[in-house]
Amino acid sequence: MTIKVMTIFGTRPEAIKMAPLVIGLNEADGIESILCVTAQHREMLDQVLNLFGLKPNHDLDLMAPGQDLFDITTRCLLGLREVFRTDRPDLVLVHGDTTTCFAAGLAAFYENIPVGHVEAGLRTGNLQAPFPEEANRSLVGRITNYHFAPTSLAKNNLLAENIKEETVWVTGNTVIDALLIVRDIVENYPDGHWVNQFGKPLFERISSTNRKLILITGHRRENFGQGFIDLCSAIRELAECHPEWDLVYPVHLNPNVQKPVYEILDGLKNVNLIEPLDYEPFVWMMNQSDLILTDSGGIQEEGPALGKPVLVMREVTERPEAVDAGTVLLVGTNREKIVTAVENVMGDKAKYIAMSRAHNPYGDGLAVERIVRAISSGFLPTNSEDQWTI
Ligand code: UD1
Ligand code: UDP
Repeated sequence: MTIKVMTIFGTRPEAIKMAPLVIGLNEADGIESILCVTAQHREMLDQVLNLFGLKPNHDLDLMAPGQDLFDITTRCLLGLREVFRTDRPDLVLVHGDTTTCFAAGLAAFYENIPVGHVEAGLRTGNLQAPFPEEANRSLVGRITNYHFAPTSLAKNNLLAENIKEETVWVTGNTVIDALLIVRDIVENYPDGHWVNQFGKPLFERISSTNRKLILITGHRRENFGQGFIDLCSAIRELAECHPEWDLVYPVHLNPNVQKPVYEILDGLKNVNLIEPLDYEPFVWMMNQSDLILTDSGGIQEEGPALGKPVLVMREVTERPEAVDAGTVLLVGTNREKIVTAVENVMGDKAKYIAMSRAHNPYGDGLAVERIVRAISSGFLPTNSEDQWTI
């Protein structure tokens, strides 16, 4: 018997984390794999589809400049109603905490199609942070039949919400699968491979061992407005006080991010504001960096795996594993706090070395294998050796 599995995602991070799984499903016996993208993101999604050679069977093409949460939710729901009625799957897989994830889970629930949630069980316990992601993942958890939790901590969060243990698989996070695949490709490129991508002057500064590289990303909705002004002011102060550092910021395409970032940081000699990078050069850039300053979810998982200190511009995180291990530090969005924290880590050799310990609390690169096995086996409960543990 063949089971028809429809994977649905819409944004860059979901695509990076789901691409290896779609490839695994495409190759699995007994599974008919269908890919549906909502295109909540467009260019940033297409970058990932191209890298992994994925061609969606359905594309809702819903992104509109400056869209809000109502736009995304309603367009997803209505678009997926049509998709499910013409190409009904036996199982829908959604990922993480985006509005695509929540709306696709809800659409499947309305059509009585079982839902599998990849990266299930992450929680901060605060519905406002991150907003709306904490609500999205909690809501989709209520209508999920099969929970693929990345870590045992995430599993415990689900059990605390009375989710039945036999519906939870601890698989590791598929981000580590994606990262390891791409890191191996990137490591095999010849020296100088990225000269054209970055231009010679920037490439030479990034590659120089005499200069320090700080990689920055930021896009959280709850930081829009004053939060972004504060964090950009911190970056400006760091750049001005440290001409010996290069700060590279691939700027998210959200206009709420572009505006403050370009207004506050454009024109500084050692700050490089660039377009969002394809995943390959971004992985290369993470590897080259001395420190990562971010509010991203995925980068909090990738940084530790690459042995890079990560400073997180948020008050809370749903990924406490690396914070507990001491390689990720929460620094909030206060200007002074960010400046002090970056200078403390960069200026204290012992602290820097302690934060640069490569470790993988989020997975071992076999998450896809575990998820595909769970689906192929008809969701037989897994034995403990089959589950990811640190
Ligand atoms: C979304 C997710 C967030 C995730 C982030 C990853 C929601 C509510 N938010 O936030 O959880 O962490 O993606 O990056 O699900 N844009 C483009 N081209 C693109 C992508 C975005 O132009 O390829 C611009 C558009 O103007 C778009 C805007 O960015 O309207 C916002 O995109 P949206 O997906 O609504 O929010 P993100 O901030 O990207
Ligand atoms: N990323 C990328 N190019 C960039 C910035 C980030 O490929 O210019 C990757 C990054 O390695 C990670 C993912 O995008 O895998 C994170 O996406 P984002 O920070 O937008 O979303 P979040 O993880 O916060 O939901």
